[in-house]
Amino acid sequence: MSRKTLNIGLYGFGCVGFGLYEVLQKTPGLKANIKNICVKDKNKPREIGSENFTFDKNDILNDDEINVVVELIDDADAAFEIVSEALKRGKAVVSANKKMIAEHFTELLELQEKHNVPLLYEAAACASIPIIRNLEEYYDNDLLESIEGIVNGSTNYILTKTFAENLSYDDALKQAQDLGFAESNPILDTGGFDAKYKLQILLAHSFGYIAKPADLFNIGIDNIGPLELKYAKEKGLKIKLIAQAFKGSKGELSAFVIPKFVSSEERLFNVDDVFNGVLTKTSFADTQFFVGRGAGAHPTASAVLSDISALSYDYRYEYKKINQKENLVLSDDVNLSVLLRHKKEDADTFKKQFLTIDEAYTNNESGYITGTITLKNLKDIQTGNTGDRSFILQHVVTEKETAAQQNEIAVQI
Ligand SMILES: NC(=O)c1ccc[n+]([C@@H]2O[C@H](COP(=O)([O-])OP(=O)(O)OC[C@H]3O[C@@H](n4cnc5c(N)ncnc54)[C@H](OP(=O)(O)O)[C@@H]3O)[C@@H](O)[C@H]2O)c1
Repeated sequence: MSRKTLNIGLYGFGCVGFGLYEVLQKTPGLKANIKNICVKDKNKPREIGSENFTFDKNDILNDDEINVVVELIDDADAAFEIVSEALKRGKAVVSANKKMIAEHFTELLELQEKHNVPLLYEAAACASIPIIRNLEEYYDNDLLESIEGIVNGSTNYILTKTFAENLSYDDALKQAQDLGFAESNPILDTGGFDAKYKLQILLAHSFGYIAKPADLFNIGIDNIGPLELKYAKEKGLKIKLIAQAFKGSKGELSAFVIPKFVSSEERLFNVDDVFNGVLTKTSFADTQFFVGRGAGAHPTASAVLSDISALSYDYRYEYKKINQKENLVLSDDVNLSVLLRHKKEDADTFKKQFLTIDEAYTNNESGYITGTITLKNLKDIQTGNTGDRSFILQHVVTEKETAAQQNEIAVQI
């Protein structure tokens, strides 16, 4: 198959945009040429000559010679305007903007179909790990049961630095920002929103389920305090921000982002710093593990490059799982074994929300409860959290374990 020549219009020349520019210089085999670059700030010094830049997005959109738009800007609303307009004009698009893709998934699907043009976004989930294309292509004939992983590089970096090197949270965040790992708005990372957008994208390509951001529950790392860190250290555990989705026996789907204690026997334990790791579990292959850099200029640009290369062979997502129409229903009907840290005076109220309690402790100011709670009750407690409470997941209680717990309670009665 002969490769198409690609004339690229690039939006954004920040961490990833400039990374892509450098990576393309070192990939002469790919017949891809950046024809024009659109940025925002007229006064910013640039790494390359000013003749390469425009500040008017229409200079690229109106250029008929440009057949590929690569969108690498940090503003999801402006990105959607650019990407949707490019698709309407029949230009193929590559984007790394998970927020934009997650918020407009259905519209972007329709635009691709209506105008018969591809939109690829491998870099939007787990940066350098080729997870979307694997979910889309490889697991077509295998029954995927669950997907679980560390999908946000900056929070993993912060957790690694605060945990292993005793750096303060603010210093670790500043380092992540200086290294180009963090989103321009840090709450997207630390609040677990970025991980949720990625989970949303992974859900569509793994289970064919299109969720809206508001459908999926997320807790970030911003409320994790010294008590949880001390608890983890004493037990030889690490805390990781985990996004996960799994199917129940009745075809219901659970999906959420919650920090989790990870033990040294688990594969995600050694996924530190800016690395991401994703575990897939399928009926026949059992567990598979993907690992790679989850942020940074060149690792992210490598995924963008791979999408550009795929376009030169006319690759597009077929959205196979969505087209299989499995009609899954998102469910909160799941029990979670957790640690809840809380204010001293909340102990009795919160204890009533637990199905079972393994351990409860309070001192003069605060306390913690470990035990099993439904996702629904966990969400209730989390509502209105002003930093005085924090949940860390121990594990998802399986249906079998839940049945055994219910039997035990029945026998005790
Ligand atoms: N950094 C990572 O490790 C990483 C990893 C995966 C995905 N991503 C995604 O990649 C995208 C870019 O991230 P980044 O880290 O490269 O951001 P960045 O370093 O902050 O750069 C953003 C770039 O976008 C430009 N820009 C912003 N608004 C614009 C507009 N309306 N029109 C034209 N240009 C505009 C900026 O222009 P000026 O230069 O004029 O300010 C800048 O060049 C984001 O969607 C991010 O979520 C990043």
